Amino acid sequence: MNFTAHAHRPSIQSFMIKKKKFPRESSVNMTELVLPNDTNTFNNLMGGRLMHWMDIVSAIAAQKHSNHVVVTASVDNISFKSPIQLGNVVTLKAKVTRSFNTSMEVKIDVEAEDVPSDKSIDSNSAYFTFVALDKDGHPTPVPEVEPETDDEKLQFDGALRRRQLRLILSGRMSPNDATELKSIFDIPKDE
Ligand SMILES: CC(C)(COP(=O)(O)OP(=O)(O)OC[C@H]1O[C@@H](n2cnc3c(N)ncnc32)[C@H](O)[C@@H]1OP(=O)(O)O)[C@@H](O)C(=O)NCCC(=O)NCCS
Repeated sequence: MNFTAHAHRPSIQSFMIKKKKFPRESSVNMTELVLPNDTNTFNNLMGGRLMHWMDIVSAIAAQKHSNHVVVTASVDNISFKSPIQLGNVVTLKAKVTRSFNTSMEVKIDVEAEDVPSDKSIDSNSAYFTFVALDKDGHPTPVPEVEPETDDEKLQFDGALRRRQLRLILSGRMSPNDATELKSIFDIPKDE
């Protein structure tokens, strides 16, 4: 048997990877209970712990979309609207909004619930960007996203502007090339 030729043949898995996927196929819900070890001295959830949970839930969504191992490439600005308290139940919902070539944008919505009083608060939401890696650790193409609902279509359309903004901020794109971003400020394309 020719082992070298066999090693370079595409795997069955690569034939099975879809070209397009719906956002619901990457949807992940994660629930956590805020315990003493998760809090600051005011008995509120520490921001870093929440960001850790956000990173995990969104990485799983990106893995489900790409069927590959993924790494976090960037995190958009996160602001904390209201504190989450000790004993609250935190639900994190993540799904892929849009993919580009090897990268995917994931939106995460966070809700906290005080179960005894039956009160919920929308804590925050954020966008994380992940890159899919092949077995050698190199960026590899991912399926396109086909949005279905009105909200998914809105998120899909906005994702291109958000991508251009984060690529400008990370020094990977010149503001002059951000045509989609310029269009919302009504800036002529040659300025
Ligand atoms: C993310 C990473 C794989 C990109 O590698 P690279 O050699 O720059 O690869 P490329 O230039 O081909 O970019 C790959 C993709 O990443 C995207 N990307 C890279 N940096 C990015 C950033 N700061 N924000 C958004 N997307 C970014 C590129 O736009 C490209 O997307 P596309 O293929 O969909 O167009 C590499 O920088 C890396 O491994 N970073 C560390 C990841 C990590 O360890 N994360 C955990 C943090 S502790």
